Amino acid sequence: MRVFTLLWTVGIVLKEAQAWGFKNGIFHNSIWLEQAAGVYHRESRKGRYQLTYKEAKAVCKYEGGKLATYEQLEAARQIGFHVCAAGWFDKGRVGYPIVKSGANCGFGKIGIIDYGYRLNKSEKWDVYCYNPNSKECGGVLTDQQKIIQSPGFPEEYQDEQICYWHIRVRLGQRIHLHFLEFDVEDDTSCLADYLDVYDSYDDVSGFAGRFCGDYIPDDIISTGNVMTLKFLSDSSVTAGGFQLEYTVINVPLIPHNCTDCFHLPMV
Ligand SMILES: *[C@@H]1O[C@H](CO)[C@@H](O)[C@H](O)[C@H]1NC(C)=O
Ligand SMILES: *[C@@H]1O[C@H](CO)[C@@H](O)[C@H](O)[C@H]1NC(C)=O
Repeated sequence: MRVFTLLWTVGIVLKEAQAWGFKNGIFHNSIWLEQAAGVYHRESRKGRYQLTYKEAKAVCKYEGGKLATYEQLEAARQIGFHVCAAGWFDKGRVGYPIVKSGANCGFGKIGIIDYGYRLNKSEKWDVYCYNPNSKECGGVLTDQQKIIQSPGFPEEYQDEQICYWHIRVRLGQRIHLHFLEFDVEDDTSCLADYLDVYDSYDDVSGFAGRFCGDYIPDDIISTGNVMTLKFLSDSSVTAGGFQLEYTVINVPLIPHNCTDCFHLPMV
């Protein structure tokens, strides 16, 4: 098990200052949200509706993607991509894909809710990107129990993957991670390929450990009802990948100042 206390310290100290920019060689600018058919939705680390058109383009470009076109967004929508948040897409257009009509979202309409081509490119929205080569991995997980695997598992994972899993369970529950299999390219400081675990709703605060190599890490239990896992592989050498299971523990929260707790809305 490799836990880098130096990185942990940096993560805490730079929480605000590093909200945008590079940390450990990774561009920290947005939270990975839903994706389908190569289209994915991202919001700024600062929260919803914080990206100018220029920033939105930079978010997509960082991982080899582009702003999604209307047609790509519609193709994703037709296989169930439903997001209640307006984002920039190709050519300075803003909108969002709605599959099921609801009172709170999309004005009761179904389809791409289109705000049109924006004249003011300094307006701030989320973003819809397109990258056909990105593996379907990561996502927002709210189940009480789930297996999480590296992309393509049990096949070897591929180069240049970035996956974010945001686990969000009910308030008052904690998350228990149990590793089943683990084989990630080994290097002395886990800078090439690695799995990061954060005791937080994003990967800015709450760093709990970085793992590579082929030792199976010890179990990890969250302090609150959220956790974030980030898997990154660089452009060379892959390995078998990993598989872990999370389950929830129904115990009272450890009393603490819960500044990073995510309050899952009641459904
Ligand atoms: C453009 O949008 C930004 C952000 O909403 C706003 O501050 C600015 O005043 C707008 N500019 C114009 C010319 O409307
Ligand atoms: C929370 O923070 C406040 C102010 O810093 C402190 O007085 C209080 O003891 C803390 N509570 C817990 C449970 O740590």
